[in-house]
Amino acid sequence: MTDPVIVASGLGRRFGETVAVDQLELTVQAGEVFGFLGHNGAGKTTTIRMLNGILTPTNGSSRVLGLDPMADGPHLRTRTGVLTETPSLDERLTGRDNLAIYADLYRVPKDAVKARVDELLTGFDLYERADDKVGGYSKGMKQRLALARTLLHKPEMLFLDEPTAGLDPVAARQVHDMIVQSTRQQGHTVFLCTHNLVEAQRLCDRVGVMEHGKLVALGAPRDLARQLVTNLTVDFEVDAEAVPAALQELEGKGITTSVAQQTGTISVRGATHSAIPDFVNLLVGAGIRIYGVTPQEPTLEDVYFALHGEQPVQRNSAEVIQ
Ligand SMILES: Nc1ncnc2c1ncn2[C@@H]1O[C@H](COP(=O)(O)OP(=O)(O)OP(=O)(O)O)[C@@H](O)[C@H]1O
Ligand SMILES: [Mg+2]
Repeated sequence: MTDPVIVASGLGRRFGETVAVDQLELTVQAGEVFGFLGHNGAGKTTTIRMLNGILTPTNGSSRVLGLDPMADGPHLRTRTGVLTETPSLDERLTGRDNLAIYADLYRVPKDAVKARVDELLTGFDLYERADDKVGGYSKGMKQRLALARTLLHKPEMLFLDEPTAGLDPVAARQVHDMIVQSTRQQGHTVFLCTHNLVEAQRLCDRVGVMEHGKLVALGAPRDLARQLVTNLTVDFEVDAEAVPAALQELEGKGITTSVAQQTGTISVRGATHSAIPDFVNLLVGAGIRIYGVTPQEPTLEDVYFALHGEQPVQRNSAEVIQ
């Protein structure tokens, strides 16, 4: 395994009495898409700011790409692209000029600037409006321009703080494609703060969930779902005439079930993933033949709500009666 590209050790930040980030221990590997989730005020943006050397920690330390963000901030930022929560663009200038100025700041070679700017304007669907003043852009266009700006110097690592906030589904998909391309094809690392759990599930190799400044869960979305979600529904296909016996077995053990109408499907509710083999053993032990076992895979949304002690809105399970 390669060296981690982010290491946070006891990283913390207070603002007066507020503990924004509390003893964060975290490593992120090269090439990972790492999702950073949590309620408003959980400490995500504060963490990103410390990892980029924009904000001084009050405790602990971090290394990013082998550098100390506080001591080597300017050097580090030549190798990272940072999309902040509220990116500032010069609204009096055109989109093209906004990018050209940053290309200069990021020391993109002069003879490469035009091609790079055109490439990004095209890639983010802004080419037609490139010579309009940014003040006249829509919110989504500004967000796309800010994203394009983070990529000007071809950074090897991206910090994206809610990159798809305010984007329409097509633009959000473009950002997702950009993230996938950047990581899977070029081996770049992405540290992604998002409130969009579908986005996180789709894109992230691992996620960390912050709550009141503390990291309360860390892992691959599927692993977290298997560990934390206890309200899984599992469908068992059995012979139609075996349904009453199967129900008797399960309910005799206090397991909540329902039966699909007209078919031999029994749905066990409130299950955990690790209990599935026990259900199979129980039914097989009672002489019931099982033709299929289908857990309704929990989502990252289920994980998020499980962590916060709440239930997500029930998904539609139309074929199941009561
Ligand atoms: N400059 C600051 N001065 C005072 N308090 C701050 C400052 N920046 C952040 N905080 C506080 O630190 C805590 C964490 O804020 P942070 O912006 O990191 O949260 P977040 O997880 O990014 O939230 P959101 O999802 O709303 O963007 C909050 O209580 C916030 O009020
Ligand atoms: Mg934030």
